[in-house]
Amino acid sequence: MKEPMIEFQNVQKFFQLSQNGFGRTRTMVKAVNEVSFTVPRGQTFAVIGESGSGKTTMAKMLMKFEDLTGGLIRVDGQDISKIKGKEALKAYRRKVQIVHQDPTSSLNPRKTIKEIIEEPLIVHGMGTRSERLQRVRELIQVVDLPLSYLDRYPHMLSGGQKQRVGIARAIALNSKLIILDEPTSALDVSVQSKVMDLLKKIQKEFQLTYFFITHDLALVKNFADYVIIMEKGALVEEGKTEQLFHNPRNLYTKNLLKAIPVIGEEEQRFLDRIQIEDTTYSIQGG
Ligand SMILES: Nc1ncnc2c1ncn2[C@@H]1O[C@H](COP(=O)(O)OP(=O)(O)OP(=O)(O)O)[C@@H](O)[C@H]1O
Ligand SMILES: [Mg+2]
Repeated sequence: MKEPMIEFQNVQKFFQLSQNGFGRTRTMVKAVNEVSFTVPRGQTFAVIGESGSGKTTMAKMLMKFEDLTGGLIRVDGQDISKIKGKEALKAYRRKVQIVHQDPTSSLNPRKTIKEIIEEPLIVHGMGTRSERLQRVRELIQVVDLPLSYLDRYPHMLSGGQKQRVGIARAIALNSKLIILDEPTSALDVSVQSKVMDLLKKIQKEFQLTYFFITHDLALVKNFADYVIIMEKGALVEEGKTEQLFHNPRNLYTKNLLKAIPVIGEEEQRFLDRIQIEDTTYSIQGG
């Protein structure tokens, strides 16, 4: 069997904060604390948790923007703490790309769409000028935007279109692991599902692994294969999406699931059942 795409083993990331100006009182933020999981290839692995639970910190460690305080991360079989030096880091970054939350701030406003999508190809010394242009034309079509948009600037595009450009750039180097950090939360609801559909299509076409960070449980339900739930830096629950939604084990997860906005009949019955169980729980607990 093939190696998993990602392995976290007891991963920790602590931040030291000095509370007064003299740095005498120190507090430690345990942004990620003893977290272990495995992400198989070609799947969507969702990370849910409230603000400050450590989701982006995990993404930053995966991108090697932050070092680990403890534990081990393997990507594609490789211990990423061993990746040292500019060239090795560059080679690693070809494998792992990220789609950011806010397409407006992540696209350079002074560059055309063509230049934006071409940039990673130039940075990584891919192809001749005309080969790169060919690749850019391919990519813009993969994300279902018209070729004529290549000469436009980001401000001339809608939020959803900008995010399509961000996706085109993320897959330009044929990276197999894509981190999606709240990829649709800055978009109108009507556009969100279209962008998610596009991501799904691309995943199938190129066998991508998605590390999908989100607050949105409705998206997780439709999109993710496996889910982990983070609370204050700790992994509190995990499971296959189906299983987790039908049989959440802890109260935190149950409360999260109750917040799903779109509710069908079946879900309503399910949520009513949770409500009853919760009451029992609080009687037992209190
Ligand atoms: N560079 C840093 N220095 C100090 N503390 C940090 C730093 N980065 C993150 N933290 C702290 O670590 C914790 C986790 O932050 P993180 O950004 O990973 O949360 P998150 O789950 O992505 O939240 P959100 O949903 O709001 O994006 C928070 O308490 C945050 O304040
Ligand atoms: Mg975050």
